[in-house]
Amino acid sequence: MNLAVIGLQFGDEGKGKIVDYLAKDFDIVARFSGGSNAGHTVVFDDKKIRFHLIPSGVLRGKIGVLGNGMVINLIKLKEEVEKIRELGIKERIFISSRAHVVTKIHEMSDEYEDKIINIGTTKQGIGPAYLSKVRRIGIRMIDLFNEEILWKKMNLLSKFSGLNIDEKLIKEDIKKIMKIGREFKENIVDTEIWLNKAMDSGKCVLFEGSQGSFLDINFGFYPYVTSTSTTVGGILSGLGISHRRVNKVLGVTKAYTTRVGGGPFPTEISGEEAKKMRDRGMEYGATTGRARRVGYLDLVLLRYSAMLNDADYLALTKVDVLTGMQKIPIATKYNCGGREYEYPPPDLKDCEVAYEFIEGWKEGNIENYRRFSAHIEKKIGRKIKIISFGEERENTIEL
Ligand code: GDP
Ligand code: IMO
Ligand code: MG
Repeated sequence: MNLAVIGLQFGDEGKGKIVDYLAKDFDIVARFSGGSNAGHTVVFDDKKIRFHLIPSGVLRGKIGVLGNGMVINLIKLKEEVEKIRELGIKERIFISSRAHVVTKIHEMSDEYEDKIINIGTTKQGIGPAYLSKVRRIGIRMIDLFNEEILWKKMNLLSKFSGLNIDEKLIKEDIKKIMKIGREFKENIVDTEIWLNKAMDSGKCVLFEGSQGSFLDINFGFYPYVTSTSTTVGGILSGLGISHRRVNKVLGVTKAYTTRVGGGPFPTEISGEEAKKMRDRGMEYGATTGRARRVGYLDLVLLRYSAMLNDADYLALTKVDVLTGMQKIPIATKYNCGGREYEYPPPDLKDCEVAYEFIEGWKEGNIENYRRFSAHIEKKIGRKIKIISFGEERENTIEL
């Protein structure tokens, strides 16, 4: 059985922890989209490990695949490999020969453009790298072994960026990425062929989603989104596999909501209450360190993202963070311009949120967590299979 683990909110739902928890039952863990904008945290042996490019499953000794749908910063990849090795983990990864490379120019463009469009990106060069890809001037992994092509493409990237880029910078970047390319030569393969063959021979794959459904380029609150299909659809084109290979989908949601960067957030809270929730949940970005915006659980959003991904079941994370709240507000509907909505409209102008209030709990115990989870399950009409109540592997109940 192959399983997709997908974020149902704005990212940071706890996908890393859930992937780590489940990975023991799989042979391969594959990323299909995004790049180092992702930050997946796994707490293991009193250590906090943050994965950005490498699938979290390598911690369990599983083979990691970085699919063709990804954009990869080689300098960051090398740093991440070194960090993992320092922890005594010997990673085994395959990188798609068709994945695109994030260059220094892309990072500079992201910095420059975000000052104008104010999305609040992670400044990892992700949007500009995908832009180069669809412009058909992007650098693919396979290009790292051909200096002539690399030069040609780098010059095109420079020209199209509209920035005044020093030739020396281009030269240095080429030197660096070619060197790292050579170091990873053995790892760069046609992953779509390798992966399909592995599945033919009975190997099981866990597809590790990055970002969240409301950051999806098609279904998120555009333009406050990332540049990829973060929902299940992205798996097929991001790894070169058929929909028949995605057997089950597990959607991950926090028991409340967070978001980093700009854009709509209907159930956002502020002031003292927000501070308390942020501190209890340690809601600071794994990639940028930014304080995450926080708010209540939003069933309007969850209903929609569970539908888009046709989640077979859900994982509900961070229920422990709600401990101590007297009443827990949960958004059930929106009223927009006099109309009621059970799913979010594409434009949230003039929308008001209708809440219900669930009895809270003083003591963080399994019985209380289960009661809360059963209520959400009923409201969403999808089974909650996993409840997570702490960052460690053992703070997990499987129902
Ligand atoms: P991801 O991007 O979806 O993998 O999520 P992040 O790693 O960016 O953010 C989730 C954060 O919450 C990480 O610091 C996790 O260690 C932590 N975490 C995950 N599950 C739980 C949980 O059930 N309770 C608490 N308190 N922390 C959790
Ligand atoms: P994980 O995988 C949370 C957000 C950024 C910004 C928007 C666009 O850890 O859940 P980008 O750099 O992708 O162009 O930024 O998307 N964003 C994330 N927010 N978790 C992530 O990944 C994110 N990846 C991107 O904050 O609002
Ligand atoms: Mg994250």
